Amino acid sequence: MEDLEKIRTLEMRFRREFARSPRFFRAPGRVNLIGEHTDYNDGFVLPFAIDRFCLVAGAARADSTINAAALDLRESFSFDLRDQAIRRRGDWRDYIEGTARSLGIRQGADLVFSSEVPIGAGLSSSAALAISVGFALLALADDAIDKRKLAFAAQRAEHDFVGIRSGIMDQFASVFSTRGHALLLDCRSLEFEKIPIAFEDFDIIVCDSRIKHELASTEYNIRRRECEAGVEILRAVKPGIQSLRDAALTDLEKADDLLPDTIKRRCRHVIGENARTLEAARGLRDNDPKLFGRLMFESHSSLRDDYQVSCRELDFLVDAAAGIDGVAGARMTGGGFGGCTVNLVRSDTTQEFENEICREYSNKFGSRPVIYSFHASDGAAEID
Ligand code: GLA
Repeated sequence: MEDLEKIRTLEMRFRREFARSPRFFRAPGRVNLIGEHTDYNDGFVLPFAIDRFCLVAGAARADSTINAAALDLRESFSFDLRDQAIRRRGDWRDYIEGTARSLGIRQGADLVFSSEVPIGAGLSSSAALAISVGFALLALADDAIDKRKLAFAAQRAEHDFVGIRSGIMDQFASVFSTRGHALLLDCRSLEFEKIPIAFEDFDIIVCDSRIKHELASTEYNIRRRECEAGVEILRAVKPGIQSLRDAALTDLEKADDLLPDTIKRRCRHVIGENARTLEAARGLRDNDPKLFGRLMFESHSSLRDDYQVSCRELDFLVDAAAGIDGVAGARMTGGGFGGCTVNLVRSDTTQEFENEICREYSNKFGSRPVIYSFHASDGAAEID
């Protein structure tokens, strides 16, 4: 088993470094099927955890030191939980220290990790890292694993230590997912429904543009502020609304004179995307790939035109997919400005799809996208 190989390597490295046996933990990345930039607006998302994990080998220490080594990067660092926290180092260490601090961990640990989740591809390699390390730290300190608390701590790490005001989708997907299912999450009530991913004769194929534009994190925080500004303005026509979740398209019309054009577009995306996500969930339950696919295309157009978080590489991938036989739907997935598209493709045409999309993309941009066919996996766990 491939996984076993990886665990052996981790174990060897751990023993060499710390001269004892570790326990093993893992947490997955995710693909979002639909419901983009809705999570921090109290809305709906529909992600699933992928079969790519961040693996952690760890053992508790008697003191309050955390030693963490990144196997793939050949880097390591240490800090003492009793010392003042250091924020915004600007790399993977922020996720480790941030999660440990946010969880209120007091007991030290030795950790070695290695991740299979592609970095910077919009597949939540950061949530996989924070959740797997957080899970390990709780388990090694003999603390009860409160999954919600873990998800929120990882999110706080992202806010306070990394500096991105992300929503809760990635962490929830990494913690609560179940094999074979997508997670329809209500980001307000935090209730979720697990829906089997079982489109008859259709597969989900992910295309990684391998592009990551620099502005992703700044623009992310700007979008969040624009949504908050939208809520403020909409209160004039609908007092008492807490977030864009509470707004309808008719409210936008009523507030038309008050809303600057950019803010109006942002709001329109979020309101429409929430409705699309609920409808797509119905399409998934009812095995209706046609409906689901149409909503994916609509979602992409809205992200491109109104929310303006796409880029020409992603638009190209979606347009190219639309022209390929057997494709029911395609859209960018994740925060945007690069990363991946997710495609719903008829199973008997997936090979042609892959060949064709790679050919067209290479012709245009001179590099090949990476194609993935992920399986929906279980969330974070200790590995026996
Ligand atoms: C990033 C964030 C998520 C979510 C998506 C967009 O992945 O971490 O919280 O907002 O972007 O849907």
